[in-house]
Amino acid sequence: MRILIAAGHVIDPSQAIDGVFDILIKGRKIEGIYPKGKAPKGEIDRVIDARGMYVLPGLVDMHTHLREPGFEHKETIKTGTLAAIKAGFTSVCAMPNTMPVNDSAGITEYILQKAEEEGACAVFPIGAITKGQAGEELTDMDTMRNAGCVAFSDDGFPVEKSLLMRRALEYSKACGVPLIAHSEDLSLSAGGMMNEGLLSQTLGLGGIPNTAEETAVFRDIALSELTGARLHIAHVSTEGSVRIIRAAKSRGVKVTAETCPHYFSITEEAVKGYNTNAKVNPPLRTERDVKAIKEGLRDGAIDVIATDHAPHSKGDKMKEFDLAPSGISGLETALGLSLRLVDEGVLTLTELIRKMTVNPATILSLNKGGLKPGSDADAAIIDLKKSFNVDINQFESKGKNTPFDWWLLKGAVVVTVAGGKVHRW
Ligand code: DOR
Repeated sequence: MRILIAAGHVIDPSQAIDGVFDILIKGRKIEGIYPKGKAPKGEIDRVIDARGMYVLPGLVDMHTHLREPGFEHKETIKTGTLAAIKAGFTSVCAMPNTMPVNDSAGITEYILQKAEEEGACAVFPIGAITKGQAGEELTDMDTMRNAGCVAFSDDGFPVEKSLLMRRALEYSKACGVPLIAHSEDLSLSAGGMMNEGLLSQTLGLGGIPNTAEETAVFRDIALSELTGARLHIAHVSTEGSVRIIRAAKSRGVKVTAETCPHYFSITEEAVKGYNTNAKVNPPLRTERDVKAIKEGLRDGAIDVIATDHAPHSKGDKMKEFDLAPSGISGLETALGLSLRLVDEGVLTLTELIRKMTVNPATILSLNKGGLKPGSDADAAIIDLKKSFNVDINQFESKGKNTPFDWWLLKGAVVVTVAGGKVHRW
């Protein structure tokens, strides 16, 4: 099967491509990129007319909660990957806070097997740092890496014991994979439920100070510096974290960082009315933090935009604010929210796509995120002129928990090609 994506504006930061090109796909691979009209003639089974559209490498989400095994009422590998491809993502990295936790090669193999059978796109498991994510005993990272884990994280929970975190970094370094830190000092967040400040006081909700994140980011970076291990900071939400990461990078520490669309799109104000769909960990912060996150994205302190797609069931989120779980269903709004950064002049389109493709792929050593000949045929075709209203009823994800319902976003995904398979929306 040969498919021609004709005359689209191709942006592929991995090979500094920004212009109108034809892309030829053969089977599951990219055959080549050619100047418009110059693709070799020969048998072509399908032509996708991409005139007036942007053609991007399939997006890579390095922070996704697929919930399977164990929480299939929230999401499954099938529904999560369907949500991904609808949103232009063709690679998702599955966080280990499932039930059982992905803390052994057997679970990793199960996830990969399920993804092979039912997944709509590539799934890369992230293994737990500690057994059961209990923060006491390290997992067998080497065996899990061999089974297919691309990184290790206790996401959802920090590794509280500093010596254990040190050993985890040493171990992950020996395994050649990065550690993804959920940096949070639980004694400072003290069971809080939203950002600490006037609003948390007014609402009578326990607050989580910025410092709960920043002291942990600082510790994790110090340990990365000590061990020389690669550290990736997940879901950065505060001004101070951006500053600490920027300073560490300037010293040459092997640290990278991600933020998520909700941390640069809305503030703690979204929690007003006790809106559990705006309850997320780390919490939504203030305008000042939002500004700093954007600056971090602009100057490179933050390398990646990840979704932290955290689907929860309606019943879970219908609970009172303090009982409802944290998390936002993020895949299906990620690109539209991120494209606002281009309109605002924070990032160029190329820089934005870099943070959603080649940067996460490079951090995790995935052979993804680009359209080089020979690479997997993963691409997203988007219409930047087309706006759409977010509509949870149209979500492929089981998780309808978003504070962005009915937002008007620009940049509709019209076609996703995942492993050579074409999905048109
Ligand atoms: O809000 C969050 N939800 N933050 C996390 O770190 C975990 C995630 C989840 O698994 O629901």
